Amino acid sequence: MRALRANALYEGVYPLSAALSRPLIATLLVETAHTYGADAVAHGCTGKGNDQVRIEVAARALDPSIATLAPLRDSPLSRPDAMIFAEQHGVPVSSTVAKPYSIDANLWGRSIEAGVLENPWAAPPEDAYAWTAQSDAQPALAEHLVIDFDEGVPSFEGQWGAQLVATLNHLAGQHGVGRIDLVEDRVIGVKSREVYECPGSIALITAHKALERLVLTRDELRFKATVDQKYGELIYDGLWPSPLRTAFDAFNGSLAPRMTGKVRLKLHHGAAVCDGSRSPFGLYDESLATYGAGDSFKHDAAAGFIELWGLPLELEARVTRRPARPRSSTPVLA
Ligand code: ARG
Repeated sequence: MRALRANALYEGVYPLSAALSRPLIATLLVETAHTYGADAVAHGCTGKGNDQVRIEVAARALDPSIATLAPLRDSPLSRPDAMIFAEQHGVPVSSTVAKPYSIDANLWGRSIEAGVLENPWAAPPEDAYAWTAQSDAQPALAEHLVIDFDEGVPSFEGQWGAQLVATLNHLAGQHGVGRIDLVEDRVIGVKSREVYECPGSIALITAHKALERLVLTRDELRFKATVDQKYGELIYDGLWPSPLRTAFDAFNGSLAPRMTGKVRLKLHHGAAVCDGSRSPFGLYDESLATYGAGDSFKHDAAAGFIELWGLPLELEARVTRRPARPRSSTPVLA
């Protein structure tokens, strides 16, 4: 919910499904450690990824005295060796030699990396995808959904929360919505190529942004765009526990009372787009916007507005863009 209020996307496209889950996993790890009186927690992240950063930063923020064990960082294994190790020790893993992908999934999205995807020129094979239909399997006709927002909380046909996201994963996934192919910048400095399927989260963020465009003022939207970008970076970079994130939540929460309304989403051929929005708090005034009959806009006020709006640039132009004078051979010093 907080990530949705922030339209949280990393590098403009990735809804942070894996990143958002790590602080929660860390919280449960630390709670479990406390239950059993343990002084350390462990994770299976490699030393090259973002997840080690997210889990350890979050665990330390919860309990600075807790130690972390990271066996795969201490003794790195290649993916093929890790698969052999898992088989020898009876650990069930979904990766196979034919599909050696590293997959992470939760309600907010599914991420796929490694294997052939490590070559950024290689197109993702269809077998990497599980939640989104490929183009020839998508319905020929578009589908429309009306998402209801009540003070920022979305619902669709009476479903909300986890159930809503699961339903949207299914409905939007059928239309191939939410496929993301991203060469992204990891926290530890390397670029990696990751493919995501995020039909439900992309549909919800698209609808949420559309409602914001209807109800928020121009300045709120402009300011929020920078807050949203920073919010996504904080989550990606493992800084969920930071007070800056909490402050952003307070800002986004202050807008929520006006975030009531309906957004109609059109799902078709891989895209979810808003094709209609309405709200009791909408700032759109048809009589001001219309070019037809019933126009109430004060046309005669525009000329005076432009005169004053452009005044600073006119002043600057008068000083710096004087008409060219013939050059004299002796420089004139002030
Ligand atoms: N690159 C993504 C992130 O850092 C996803 C990582 C999840 N791991 C995976 N094996 N696909 O948030």
